[in-house]
Amino acid sequence: MTSGAWAHARIERCLVTGGLGFIGSHFIRLLLRERPDIEVINLDAMTYAGNPLNLHDLEDDSRYRFVHGNIADRTVVRAAIGAGVDAIVNFAAESHVDRSLRDATAFCATNVCGTQVLLDAAREYRVQRFLQVSTDEVYGDIPEGESTEDDPLRPRSPYSASKAAADLLALAHYESYDAPVLITRGSNTYGPYQYPEKLIPLFVTNLIDDQLVPVYGDGMQVRDWLYVEDHARGILHVLEHGEPGNVYNLGGNNPRTNLDITHMLLKACGRSPLTHVHHVGDRPGHDRRYAMNTEKARALGWEPGMPFVAGLHRTIDWYKANERWWRPLKSGDFAEYYALQYQAAPVKVPITTGGIA
Ligand code: TYD
Repeated sequence: MTSGAWAHARIERCLVTGGLGFIGSHFIRLLLRERPDIEVINLDAMTYAGNPLNLHDLEDDSRYRFVHGNIADRTVVRAAIGAGVDAIVNFAAESHVDRSLRDATAFCATNVCGTQVLLDAAREYRVQRFLQVSTDEVYGDIPEGESTEDDPLRPRSPYSASKAAADLLALAHYESYDAPVLITRGSNTYGPYQYPEKLIPLFVTNLIDDQLVPVYGDGMQVRDWLYVEDHARGILHVLEHGEPGNVYNLGGNNPRTNLDITHMLLKACGRSPLTHVHHVGDRPGHDRRYAMNTEKARALGWEPGMPFVAGLHRTIDWYKANERWWRPLKSGDFAEYYALQYQAAPVKVPITTGGIA
């Protein structure tokens, strides 16, 4: 199969899984905005990170249908696909590394077994393309240089191990059954509607509330940041133009240390590093650096467009303007998780002492 044969694929009905989550909800909104004739079925399990408010504006859109269910549930999946879809984009996943370090059960059930159920059903119903949304974390720690798509996978957390397993299952379906599978590996993504357990929304919302921000270890870990709409556009581009059996790195080419990000957030929120940073114990097995080569996706015609400073300020402004979205998420179960995860972190700002090590 040549890439030319797949250029400009026309998708009429798309099953998106995990569409109430962060990147999935942005992807669905993009799809409906840019492909007016498309129909979208959103299959989402409504776990703690799936939020109906992320797509509340679509309630009256006749092109959009929501199905409540888990991708590991074969009956639900077969019913959703059997309704006739020509593409599947699998966002559904447990995605937080710290939670995977506490208990990886749900990560294996959803990320690994769920993906396999979807792949099997896609094959049974001869779905024309299947895009697996993956992550740069499957390459593991990259002390120097950049990961390219053919590099060996060396995941180092239970989360990234589960995503690597899903990638390998997807590629095995391509090799074994000629299934039209594509994989995107995105870098750290940020923007509005991100659940406040992740670095940027956690820190922004803590700072709005005059709380400390818990920096793991020395804060010199490097992540490559990609704005969520750029990520969503990349996934759509690969879905329509990518060549089955291929992996595409979608990186922001915007490496930053966690401390850099922290200082930008502190400044934007009018807080001082002397009073609002708390260095807590490091994450076990913490990958120091991720970095991807994105030539392949760029050659296909995608590139990120959002400059980082503008994207970060847009994100901060969104959290400042949407307290009603995130405030309920930070109470209840999340508050319990936070207390457990950051036991050593004081929750109130000390009056005199500095937090920086
Ligand atoms: P995170 O947003 O959890 O994404 P990932 O682990 O998938 O990269 O974390 C981004 C970086 O920020 C990572 O190096 C861990 C660090 N981090 C902290 O220092 N403190 C925190 O409270 C969190 C959530 C993350």
